[in-house]
Amino acid sequence: MTDVQALEGQILNAIAGAADEAALEAVRVSALGKKGAISELLKSLGSMSPDERKANGPLFNTLRDRAVTAIAERKRTLEDAALNARLATEKVDITLPVRPEPTGSIHPVSQAFDELIAIFADLGFAVAEGPDVEYDDYNFTKLNIPPDHPARQMHDTFYVSKQADGSRHVLRTHTSPVQVRTMLNRNPPIRIISPGRTYRVDSDATHSPMFHQFEGLVVDEVTHLGHLKWVLEEFCKAFFEVDKVEMRARPSFFPFTEPSVEWDLRCDRSGGQIKFGTGNDWLELAGSGMVNPRVLENCGIDSAKYQGYAFGGGIDRLAMLKYGIPDIRAFFESDLRWLRAYGFAALDIPTLDGGLSR
Ligand code: DAH
Repeated sequence: MTDVQALEGQILNAIAGAADEAALEAVRVSALGKKGAISELLKSLGSMSPDERKANGPLFNTLRDRAVTAIAERKRTLEDAALNARLATEKVDITLPVRPEPTGSIHPVSQAFDELIAIFADLGFAVAEGPDVEYDDYNFTKLNIPPDHPARQMHDTFYVSKQADGSRHVLRTHTSPVQVRTMLNRNPPIRIISPGRTYRVDSDATHSPMFHQFEGLVVDEVTHLGHLKWVLEEFCKAFFEVDKVEMRARPSFFPFTEPSVEWDLRCDRSGGQIKFGTGNDWLELAGSGMVNPRVLENCGIDSAKYQGYAFGGGIDRLAMLKYGIPDIRAFFESDLRWLRAYGFAALDIPTLDGGLSR
């Protein structure tokens, strides 16, 4: 064996035996550093005769290339091993329960929003939104409540200061302006639900100046009150998690629907707890009706071709009934003890197949 072959064997062995990156670096310096064995060989070429140089030059250069390649490969292997070792020590089992237990919880009104959206999404409704500060025109006029209409008085409106052009904005008194926004921006068929904040100058055990409503709107070539009743019935069964409900229709009046119907739900409050589908009590559920053709026209929809139905009701009230909360004001007092007692687990997202509230 020549000296060069022996040196190569020695260096490759040292490279293969380097246990970590520091050891490998020491091998690299001893072979390829300024005073390294291979560097010295290469330097010695300068003092050789041309024939010797011709014979040794390729040998030394090959030796250098092999050492460089072997070091690079060993380096990659050591890096991979170091990374794998680190990943093994830092491994987290994401299937284990969260520790410590999360302390936050979902507010019952947010829970009711999520449940309502899950139910209506299953019935083919998309969620639509609108701003809390609304045009007077969208909150009232386009919904067939002109400025001098007596229905305006019933809304106990919070007005926002006058705009430069003299128009007034309002804190929306109901979610119905989302109907207007949807119809102005989209062509039928329309099938939306819009839960959101609403505001009225009113405050007692069952009224809060800021409260929550849901609005539903369907516009298509063929719609009728039967569709409306079925949708509300399906919603009630799913929301109250019962197999059967009974609804009663009362004739009513809303400027934006014609005819207008209010729906009550049969219930039994005798045992201190509320039960649905039986009993002799009736609970107000929602206002509704066939969309007044004037509202369709105000929003650019051809009322000769399309009809629609709409409905709206209070979400806070639904949550109070479902979760047994007697006073609406408790929702908005931000009392942590109350929130801990009535809040829902943050990771239990309501779904129809997974369960809504349990
Ligand atoms: N906007 C009404 C209110 O605040 C509720 C309502 C009634 C909404 C009838 C509707 C409807 O969409 O058709 O009292």
